[in-house]
Amino acid sequence: MRILLTGRGGQVGAELARMLEGVAATDRAALDLADAEAIRRVIRDIKPEVIINAAAYNAVDRAESEQELALRVNGAAPGVMAEEAKRLGALLVHYSTDYVFDGAKGSPYVEGDAPKPLSAYGNSKLEGEERVRASGCRHLILRTSWVYGPRAANFYQVIRRKAQAGEPMRMVDDQTSVPTSSTFLASHTAILLKAGATGLLHLVPSGQATRHEFACEVVRALRSASRVDPARTADFPTAARRPVYSVLDNRRVVDLLGRPLPDWRELLR
Ligand SMILES: NC(=O)c1ccc[n+]([C@@H]2O[C@H](COP(=O)([O-])OP(=O)(O)OC[C@H]3O[C@@H](n4cnc5c(N)ncnc54)[C@H](OP(=O)(O)O)[C@@H]3O)[C@@H](O)[C@H]2O)c1
Repeated sequence: MRILLTGRGGQVGAELARMLEGVAATDRAALDLADAEAIRRVIRDIKPEVIINAAAYNAVDRAESEQELALRVNGAAPGVMAEEAKRLGALLVHYSTDYVFDGAKGSPYVEGDAPKPLSAYGNSKLEGEERVRASGCRHLILRTSWVYGPRAANFYQVIRRKAQAGEPMRMVDDQTSVPTSSTFLASHTAILLKAGATGLLHLVPSGQATRHEFACEVVRALRSASRVDPARTADFPTAARRPVYSVLDNRRVVDLLGRPLPDWRELLR
């Protein structure tokens, strides 16, 4: 299977490049998603059977002041990939986010729930989803949340550094979602590909956590003596608004695979 992968240097892209065979893996230098013509050129050149778009503009706060760029990379680019996938009869695998929801539901979001982003980032990711769907190409959109892993600067790495230094920390306890390891996300993308899954799926481990609970679990796993004090989102003003509750319901994936998904705590350890 000929696969074109974007975002090779990202958390999920790096894991996918490691796990999948027959992958033409690109980074920003090889393929800038802000350049629609470059996207068309590379896809027409490689003629992939599967395109996996693991690249994204992920700077949630910066997106508030860079809305146009966020829309180009997260909205327009997947649309161009989808048009090209349609021409080739290829499958487009694309990632989206729990931040397409406003968090008001208060119980896990299913695929059929109406999105209502609170931020420019969430807006741009929803635009990407809509363009992929509207293209009519064969697609698999995987919404996920709170991705962390061994690479890149992410909230896990910040907590780990503090925990290893024995430093105290304050973490908000009024944002709840599902921490998702990049390894889980990449391996389950491969499993869903093999299973022939298409459409929109919520792909997260089982369970849920506040950022405070996640930090406590990291500290425990590292046997650190660091104290983790609870804080409120309002204590750390940010440019972008985040949903207070954006747990994604993974039941559709569970039914498709015929087995439960591991709990995020197990994956963290
Ligand atoms: N991280 C999360 O918490 C989270 C939560 C929900 C959903 N998701 C979604 O999951 C997917 C994978 O996320 P991730 O955490 O693996 O992302 P990541 O680690 O931030 O990696 C994103 C990659 O995209 C690349 N990129 C950014 N702008 C680009 C451009 N204009 N052209 C080409 N490449 C560009 C980055 O390259 P540079 O290094 O050069 O910038 C980076 O390699 C994304 O669709 C993301 O929106 C992530």
